[in-house]
Amino acid sequence: MANGRPVGGPRGMRGTRKPKNAGRTIARLLGYMSGKKYMLVLVVIGILLSSLAGVVGTYFLKPVINSIEEGVATGYFDVRAFIMKLAVMAGFYALGVVGSYMYSRLMMNISTETMRRIRVDMFTKLQSLPIRYYDTHAHGEIMSRFTNDTDTLREMLSQGIPQMFSSSVTIIGVFVLMCILSPMLTTLIVAMVFVITFVVKKIGGQSAKYFKRQQKAIGSVNGYIEEMIEGQKVVKVFCRENESKEKFALINEELFDAASNANTFASVLGPITNNFSYINYALTATIGAALAVTGVLDIGTVASFLQSTRSFFQPITQISQQFNSIINALAGAERIFELMDEEPEHDSGTVTLVYATKDARGTLSETDARTGVWAWKCPQDDGTVTYTEVRGDVRFEDVVFGYDENKIVLDGISLYAKPGQKIAFVGSTGAGKTTITNLINRFYDVPDGKITYDGININKIRKSDLRRSLGMVLQDTHLFTGTVADNIRYGKLDATDEEIIRAAKLANAHSFISHLPEGYDTVLTSDGVNLSQGQRQLIAIARAAVADPPVLILDEATSSIDTRTEALIEKGMDTLMEGRTVFVIAHRLSTVKNSKAIMVLEHGKIIERGTHDDLLEQRGKYYQLYTGMFELE
Ligand SMILES: Nc1ncnc2c1ncn2[C@@H]1O[C@H](COP(=O)(O)OP(=O)(O)OP(=O)(O)O)[C@@H](O)[C@H]1O
Ligand SMILES: [Mg+2]
Repeated sequence: MANGRPVGGPRGMRGTRKPKNAGRTIARLLGYMSGKKYMLVLVVIGILLSSLAGVVGTYFLKPVINSIEEGVATGYFDVRAFIMKLAVMAGFYALGVVGSYMYSRLMMNISTETMRRIRVDMFTKLQSLPIRYYDTHAHGEIMSRFTNDTDTLREMLSQGIPQMFSSSVTIIGVFVLMCILSPMLTTLIVAMVFVITFVVKKIGGQSAKYFKRQQKAIGSVNGYIEEMIEGQKVVKVFCRENESKEKFALINEELFDAASNANTFASVLGPITNNFSYINYALTATIGAALAVTGVLDIGTVASFLQSTRSFFQPITQISQQFNSIINALAGAERIFELMDEEPEHDSGTVTLVYATKDARGTLSETDARTGVWAWKCPQDDGTVTYTEVRGDVRFEDVVFGYDENKIVLDGISLYAKPGQKIAFVGSTGAGKTTITNLINRFYDVPDGKITYDGININKIRKSDLRRSLGMVLQDTHLFTGTVADNIRYGKLDATDEEIIRAAKLANAHSFISHLPEGYDTVLTSDGVNLSQGQRQLIAIARAAVADPPVLILDEATSSIDTRTEALIEKGMDTLMEGRTVFVIAHRLSTVKNSKAIMVLEHGKIIERGTHDDLLEQRGKYYQLYTGMFELE
């Protein structure tokens, strides 16, 4: 059997990556802004201007105060010079305001654009991810990367980072100023900074952990809410409102816990650093006064220095506050990049689907015209291309597959469907019927054995082209928000209204659509909840039929449709499917009865195969499965 054979497993794709380092995340974010280089330069200039102008303004306190002191001492006060000095000081402060305005405006601009690009990349990524990703991740959790994580990131870009940078520049500028004013007093400040840094690090380090937990918890809460909205009918039918609330309370509690821890740390940081700065102010004022009295420093220097300490500690407080939101946003950014780094759907297929014309000798040549003849365009090693007509010949050769490495779902499936044949799969639930269709359209790749399509291994066919050649009605019908016509047109975007109506007639959907209030223009809301299950299936069949594909796969397509309608669809399909291959999965005998071959699947193996009459004669599983229904009919 399949022992020792590799089966299609997650191959490490499912493992969640550990958070990478913040430096790399920031570098990647910067990469997103590279298109706005000149704006970034202006932002940097704006920040430098705003911070340094403030520093210089603070310095001007010294000459201003000294001139007052001089006036008092000498009895002569030069009003003009004094006003000049005041004006220069005010000028610098005004420059600072202009710089601030400039950089915050620009940064707003840059961050909005960056977020737009990130959202585009995330969404593009979503479209490229394999079905396996969606099968293994909670949808609400994926959603929260789009909502919550991008939101915190936007805040960080528009406010957090510029403020952090501006604060750093101010700190450096003020530090230089303080050194110039009084190296002695500066030493005192530096000692204080060490104490504060120690405290901030201790508290900040702890909160980073909780911020990560918080982001994760938000993801679970969102995921749960989404699931409960989708499953609300089931919740109500089983009266599980209370259980659902209890479970929510539990997840919500985890969010509360993480959030309150994270925010407790964040909220104590500000007051702590603030208090330190007051203590420091008092200390500096006392020592400064002593130095001024003893004549070591002039009064202007002390005043300017005192003002400097304020402008020194304020940015430190700001940084410590911003620190947490930045950690929070970086955690979000890492989750965003984690999504972007997911392995995309791998496709090494080179064979493509093209329109062709066929000459008298049967030779195919490619054409742009919509001839109705399709060909597989196969590039050869020597650079030439060959064309194979698309006929719809599908073969399985000893296919072994499992969603997980240690659980085989299909075990050595071999079968063939010649062009124009209708092949049916029947079998108990979970036997592997849908899985077979998942392999034909390459939602999952076959690790062992092979599937060929017109003699070509489907692994060699480009996924999009392969899927274009297949008309699929999935087991779970999904309709999009839009009109009925839009939903059918999804199968062939350039379909004319006539084609749509023709497909709807084939699917026997035309009559009920005509009775809808707006006919084909009736707008369907979220997954077509305003239609019955059977009506949704009919639209899904019309959607598959409109593309007029060489191979049609119907997975339980008629399960919710009454037998009379089903018989009508059968007739329509028979016309449509002339010369085409159909795979049909059905529980109902009437659907499969006229198939060329019926495969009975059990635990991933074909245990019986043959025509309806053959199988009934065998009195095996098929007979058992369907006699009940047979008698009812
Ligand atoms: N995405 C998935 N990931 C892991 N296991 C899966 C997945 N989809 C199906 N399976 C498993 O594979 C087996 C076959 O499932 P499949 O959907 O092919 O059954 P089926 O024959 O179509 O059943 P039904 O008649 O109920 O539609 C089941 O045991 C199921 O648990
Ligand atoms: Mg199924």
